Amino acid sequence: MPKSQHATGWSAEDLREDPHTAVDKAARVEAMFTDIAPRYDLNNRLHSMWRDQAWRKRAVEMAKILPNDHVLDMACGTGDLTAMLAQEHPARTLGIDYTEAMLEIARRKAAGIPIKHRPTYQKGDAMDIELEDLSMDVITIAFGIRNVAEPERAVAEFARILRPGGRLLILEFSTPSNPLIRMMNTLYTRHLMPLTAGLIAGDRSGAYRYLPRSISTFADPSALSAMLERHGFETMEQRRLTLGLCTITHARLTDS
Ligand SMILES: C[S@@+](CC[C@H](N)C(=O)[O-])C[C@H]1O[C@@H](n2cnc3c(N)ncnc32)[C@H](O)[C@@H]1O
Repeated sequence: MPKSQHATGWSAEDLREDPHTAVDKAARVEAMFTDIAPRYDLNNRLHSMWRDQAWRKRAVEMAKILPNDHVLDMACGTGDLTAMLAQEHPARTLGIDYTEAMLEIARRKAAGIPIKHRPTYQKGDAMDIELEDLSMDVITIAFGIRNVAEPERAVAEFARILRPGGRLLILEFSTPSNPLIRMMNTLYTRHLMPLTAGLIAGDRSGAYRYLPRSISTFADPSALSAMLERHGFETMEQRRLTLGLCTITHARLTDS
């Protein structure tokens, strides 16, 4: 596909084609999150009907992090999952994201957290992570892998920086298997959500048109699991949440 070279988010015309094949996906995604950063948390709460924090909490529970584990929350955005991880495992929780405007909000929120539970944030790219080989025990990525320009490169990086036996938890939207739920979800995400995102949360970047389109064209849980296996992971569990609207993929880097 290719399209206009200027990165300003997503127009309806851009989204006629698969957004994952856009040559400038990385720049467009960054422009989109820069634009929506101040209203990102509000949009999340509103459009998930306040389920999004429960989904993140479930990922933290499944991660079963040990006291000495080093934890990376990749594509941390405004830091909601990072803060939950750090609540239980302070001082060893790092959040990385490539959109400065999202990180600024994460840092502002962290300033209100007592020092002993405060995570650290760093600007960086999931496809080229500035961390040593074998330096992490657990990596989480919530609603992030779908937004990375080349997810497979990010997975290869996760395999490089995880210790053998290290674990990866991917929380991502998925398509409900029940046809009625699927139809209602499609109506909601394609028609109602872009409207409310524009009216209530002032979205001008096309983020809430991009969202359903980027979900329907992204790897489903079994394709995601196959991608992980190509990089030395074994999938231990795929847990569907809220009628299959989201799935947590929990994988382990094999020892060999
Ligand atoms: C939908 S937000 C998710 C934020 C957060 N994890 C959450 O649970 O709300 C997706 C995030 O992915 C980040 N992102 C996309 N591609 C990235 C990349 N290559 N490296 C780092 N962050 C990336 C964006 O900047 C954005 O903050």
